[in-house]
Amino acid sequence: MDKGLAYLTELTWAYRAARVLHIANGLGIFSLLHSKSMTAVRLAQTTGTDAEMLDKLLIACCGMGLLKRQGCQYKNSDTADTYLVQGHPNYQGDIIAHSASVWNFWSNLEDAVRHGPTPPRWTPEQHRHFILGMHNNTMAGRGALFLKHIDLAGRKHLFDVGGGPATYSILACRNYPELTATIFDLPETIEIARQMIAKEGLQDRIHTRVGSWDTEEFGSGNDVVLFSNVLHGPSSSASMKLDKAYRSMLPGGLLVIQEFLLDDDKSGPLVPALFNLMVGAFSSSELMDAIRTAGFAKPKTAVADPSIGSAWITAVRLG
Ligand SMILES: C[S@@+](CC[C@H](N)C(=O)[O-])C[C@H]1O[C@@H](n2cnc3c(N)ncnc32)[C@H](O)[C@@H]1O
Repeated sequence: MDKGLAYLTELTWAYRAARVLHIANGLGIFSLLHSKSMTAVRLAQTTGTDAEMLDKLLIACCGMGLLKRQGCQYKNSDTADTYLVQGHPNYQGDIIAHSASVWNFWSNLEDAVRHGPTPPRWTPEQHRHFILGMHNNTMAGRGALFLKHIDLAGRKHLFDVGGGPATYSILACRNYPELTATIFDLPETIEIARQMIAKEGLQDRIHTRVGSWDTEEFGSGNDVVLFSNVLHGPSSSASMKLDKAYRSMLPGGLLVIQEFLLDDDKSGPLVPALFNLMVGAFSSSELMDAIRTAGFAKPKTAVADPSIGSAWITAVRLG
């Protein structure tokens, strides 16, 4: 579809507003302005920044609808109060911080395209933002799709592979009182998962297992295996992970997958296409083939919302 010159101009300069959001979020501006207004000078003193440049950043935030200015005072817009204040249930600050962490990839995209990508290296703080960013994403809409379209009634145990902050297991266990879950993930992530599980008081129903899918099997007796955003594309060892899931499951077990999925002709949609550039993404039919090759039956898409890059797929282990 030809979208015209205005769209092209928007794309050309889109990174500027993204960077303003990254920096304002990183400085904690929106949390500082929760329920109160402050001048640029006061905010500069609090954040240790240059008052003149900070004022320009705040004016840009006003232009983006994130702040309001009255005289010399700045305060949050409703959007900022709802999504950008730390501690709010809909907080998006960690995924914005993660977006800022991967800025280097996008800044060096030409090198990656010319010579191939280099794997990212993250500090512990960046890793925490990445994992809590997954929680932000879930609370921003993916979790609602999961609860509405994935039926876990009667299921006993969910094995959450690369379960990250444990948000899906927490949502599932809250919704299905008979269900228990295991979060399987790397040690640095399990530490965060344990904190999230403890916050919910679900330690008796959600357990954690430190390990790597590269070297370990997924146990036995699982009647649900969840792969949420861990089967990214043909070069992600998806087949090895699916084989391990199959071996770990009871007959009748349910496989649940969430992924960024490209259309079969690989011409979009935009959100999965951009994700594919940095991480990798299957087309819908490639993923369905991989699921069938691992031995699962009846693969089907339960729901897909390409605007947030969330497609939910289920399949069953028959025998
Ligand atoms: C994109 S996050 C998805 C988190 C969670 N499933 C979600 O959707 O919110 C990918 C997860 O895979 C985990 N991971 C990466 N490599 C792993 C490995 N070799 N073995 C187990 N988990 C791994 C990461 O620590 C992270 O929690």
